[in-house]
Amino acid sequence: MSMRDTNTAATPEGTYALDNASAEARARFPALADAFDAGTQRHLAAVGVGPGWRCLEVGGGGGSIARWLAERVGPTGHVLVTDIDPRHLRFPNLPEVEVRVHDIAVDPLPAATFDLVHARLVLLHVPEREAALANMIAALKPGGWLVDEEFDSSVFPDPVRSPGETLLKTHIALSRMLDCRGVDRNFGRRLFTRLRAHGLDHVAAEGRTFMWPAGSAGPAMMRANYSQLRSQMISAGYITEADFDRDIAALDHPDFVMPSPILWAAWGQKPPETA
Ligand SMILES: C[S@@+](CC[C@H](N)C(=O)[O-])C[C@H]1O[C@@H](n2cnc3c(N)ncnc32)[C@H](O)[C@@H]1O
Repeated sequence: MSMRDTNTAATPEGTYALDNASAEARARFPALADAFDAGTQRHLAAVGVGPGWRCLEVGGGGGSIARWLAERVGPTGHVLVTDIDPRHLRFPNLPEVEVRVHDIAVDPLPAATFDLVHARLVLLHVPEREAALANMIAALKPGGWLVDEEFDSSVFPDPVRSPGETLLKTHIALSRMLDCRGVDRNFGRRLFTRLRAHGLDHVAAEGRTFMWPAGSAGPAMMRANYSQLRSQMISAGYITEADFDRDIAALDHPDFVMPSPILWAAWGQKPPETA
């Protein structure tokens, strides 16, 4: 169990901003899967995930990647999927999946155990992201692969440079609020150099970005994120109720389009043990 109290409203900057207990999480997880699973699966397949592998999925959220991993590793493999709040992690008929309540920043993991450790959009939310990364690498077997995927928000909607893109006031407000909550919205850009600094071999990285029109997964995810932090953004004076309501309606306008943040995937291999 986590040693941190993830529900302490008095210290919000140290806690997960988009907690899974909210109703909005039920909309966020399918949208994340729709937007990003195909690319994630491609990266995981490229490092060789296959029958018999032991995998750790950190911050599994809605479980779509853990489910895919379980099918890939088959009955001779094992998938440990962790989350500070695993309420959405349900795997009927997949006995190779084990779910554990776990905080990647502070809770112990078995050492040198996994062929693959993967996380997506977790470390950017964790203030102790360096310690979390070190924990993930320590859990890898020699020769095992780390694959981590995080946002880099340097691609921002910009209707001046790219007429037709929509920049919502609520989007700016959300960015400010996430910054206040200790989220590193640009961590993805730094993954390559962090993985190298941790001594991994064969480090490489690829960024993906998309145009997200109305009706696509991106606006569905943004609606969930905006709505979850609505009252906090209004109380902080980052957005008015009227502007918020106008922006939520704008997400459904047929002309709406925004570029996604860049989702960087970076991967590297733990060096083999030297005798
Ligand atoms: C934005 S969601 C991403 C979910 C999933 N990885 C995906 O990409 O669809 C972040 C997830 O990380 C979990 N999380 C946040 N802080 C964590 C921590 N310190 N340790 C483990 N999981 C954490 C959250 O509960 C949530 O399920």
